[in-house]
Amino acid sequence: MEPIVKIDIDKLLDEGRDLVVDLGCGSKKRRGRIGIDRVDLPAVDIVADLEQGLGFLPDHSVREIHCRSVLEHLDPFETVLREILRVLKPEGTAHIFVPHFSNPYFYSDPTHIRFFGLYTFQYFVPPELQLRRKVPTYYSDLRLRILSQRLVFRSSFKFINPIKKAFGWLINRHSLLQAYYEETLCWLFPAHGIELIFTHAGAEGPSGSIEKAKTDNTAPKKRSST
Ligand SMILES: C[S@@+](CC[C@H](N)C(=O)[O-])C[C@H]1O[C@@H](n2cnc3c(N)ncnc32)[C@H](O)[C@@H]1O
Repeated sequence: MEPIVKIDIDKLLDEGRDLVVDLGCGSKKRRGRIGIDRVDLPAVDIVADLEQGLGFLPDHSVREIHCRSVLEHLDPFETVLREILRVLKPEGTAHIFVPHFSNPYFYSDPTHIRFFGLYTFQYFVPPELQLRRKVPTYYSDLRLRILSQRLVFRSSFKFINPIKKAFGWLINRHSLLQAYYEETLCWLFPAHGIELIFTHAGAEGPSGSIEKAKTDNTAPKKRSST
């Protein structure tokens, strides 16, 4: 599928505008964002198949990437991740939401082909920045740094929602609690999804994100090498 680019990206970059893109925006997007989707809906500025990459965006040109409820539809996932890191500015941030593997509705959608856990993105994180339980990084040469990661709890039963929200508040106090939850409790209290912010490994992200990561208990602490 040939991308249809309805906006002048070079002009925006020449004007020094910060690009904020919404990958798989669907029918609505926030003001100021560049909407990208394979379906040509009114909110969509670039009609493209994300599985074929983001060739219409130059390297390191985007300040912020938003991608909500989309990565579970894509294959290969790593190609899309590689493209996100290619177009992201050195201090840019990617804001992702994906369904957690314990979400029962995940399995109902016939277009979902991939599920996510707390450790999925850790496979692309250098070992010294990973969570306590280490996972191999040799499957891929991609490297990213997670600034924050949160499990999202929600129920379609309104009366359960406040209980799930309170439970989520507790679990998200610390990455160890999140890990304990995923290993032992997730089938009793399924999570809705995972919200995470990442940047390039080696980058700390923009000052706002650094501040967020500093105050966020779930952001991994940088360990000293000594
Ligand atoms: C569940 S919707 C999420 C829409 C929006 N992000 C939201 O949070 O409401 C998934 C979106 O991803 C888009 N999508 C799925 N596969 C895609 C692909 N290969 N390339 C581009 N967009 C894709 C779909 O068209 C759809 O708009």
